Amino acid sequence: MSKTLERWGSKRAFILAVTGAAVGLGNIWRFPYVAGENGGAAFLLIYVAFVILLGIPVMMAEILIGRAGRRGPMQALGALAAEAGASRHWRWLGLFGAFTVFCILSFYSVVSGWSIEFLVASINGNFRGASAAEIGAGFDAFLANPGLLIFNHTLFLLMTMVVVAAGVAKGLERLNNLLMPLLYGLLLLLAAYAATTSGFGTALSWLFLPSLEALTPSVVLHAMGHAFFTLAVGACALMAYGAYMPDEQSLPRAAVAVAVLDISVALLAGIAIFSVVFSQGMDPADGPGLMFVTLPIAFSELPWGSLWLSVFFLLLLLATWTSAINLAEPMVATLQGFGWRRSVSTAVVALSVWSIGLLSALSFSTLADFRPLLGRNVFELVSSIPPDIFLPLGGLLIAIFAAWVLPRSAAAAALGVGERGYLCWRNVVRWVSIPLTLMVLLSGLL
Ligand code: PFF
Ligand code: NA
Repeated sequence: MSKTLERWGSKRAFILAVTGAAVGLGNIWRFPYVAGENGGAAFLLIYVAFVILLGIPVMMAEILIGRAGRRGPMQALGALAAEAGASRHWRWLGLFGAFTVFCILSFYSVVSGWSIEFLVASINGNFRGASAAEIGAGFDAFLANPGLLIFNHTLFLLMTMVVVAAGVAKGLERLNNLLMPLLYGLLLLLAAYAATTSGFGTALSWLFLPSLEALTPSVVLHAMGHAFFTLAVGACALMAYGAYMPDEQSLPRAAVAVAVLDISVALLAGIAIFSVVFSQGMDPADGPGLMFVTLPIAFSELPWGSLWLSVFFLLLLLATWTSAINLAEPMVATLQGFGWRRSVSTAVVALSVWSIGLLSALSFSTLADFRPLLGRNVFELVSSIPPDIFLPLGGLLIAIFAAWVLPRSAAAAALGVGERGYLCWRNVVRWVSIPLTLMVLLSGLL
């Protein structure tokens, strides 16, 4: 592979690519169910605070490294460390990132497969006239069917790897351009519908009026993990995209734009989902099935419900697709950096993620009682430990590298906002983001 990588076509294309990586299951599926399990408003408040104090500055750190290194994460870290006279061991951070996304993609693909199934079911009109109880029972029956879960997991992974094998920049640009505005519009419509339901008021106060007793160390840890997860920060995945970033673009502006979009998608989804939860008398702490049960119920009561529901699942599927492509990129880029062909790297990544993903797919049936650690099954483990622990840990090391190890001139140039802007960013990372991440990680683990 040559050292000069392809570049995104424009500034807008870069922002869209990062938004595509950020907006996905994290906003529409994970945010509502994790917030539901962690008390709602208190979680939301802390998570938004972490996005501002940690997510945005560390996102800049991560992209900055990729842009300064212009190589796959492992190679970029190694080369930059050598230039700075620091230890070459920093390159293992790239490998840790690849391991993190490996774990994440293994369950991400399974859950994205659920949206394929639900897309087909809604096109077939299966939810038309169904009661809330029937929709809930249908979801449980689906999870208990390993063959179906594995089929959809396989299909989704194939879809992802086809784009990855072709090279990220070109394939993604066009997709993102179309997708983001459509998804946003549909969520607005859903939230408007939610405003007409009887649960709307309860949903708003549950989401936006925090009670401070709810703030336990474990809620804070989950909120921090989710801030990293939803922004796609901490796994060197955005670092891999930074390598393709145009030279003249301002990084802080891009990071803030992405964070604002990402939070607003989560809020719209949250308002829609919790309005249904409360108007149907459901439990907000219902777990991973929350979105998959509430939204079919909501749409089944709307005129043209099946049509809207199909459009929704299609958009969700496309959003998770662009995130999964980003999840695969650091692994493929790392193997490519060892001199492997892109097609071979992609195939190896696909096959390994697929096999580990089987354990997640079977966690709802055959392997439900296989609980190797902390009393949790494989799905529960890979969907909590990598987001809550690995991403913040990776983000911490990324921040230390960018703000303490990288020489000032290289870092300032890659940030692209001049000397004063650089110092301001560096102070925030050195004295706020790094200590805060460390503190929350330690207090959450102890
Ligand atoms: N940000 C994605 C989401 O919210 O669905 C998930 C994600 C993508 C996490 C890429 C981590 C990552 F490196
Ligand atoms: Na997200």
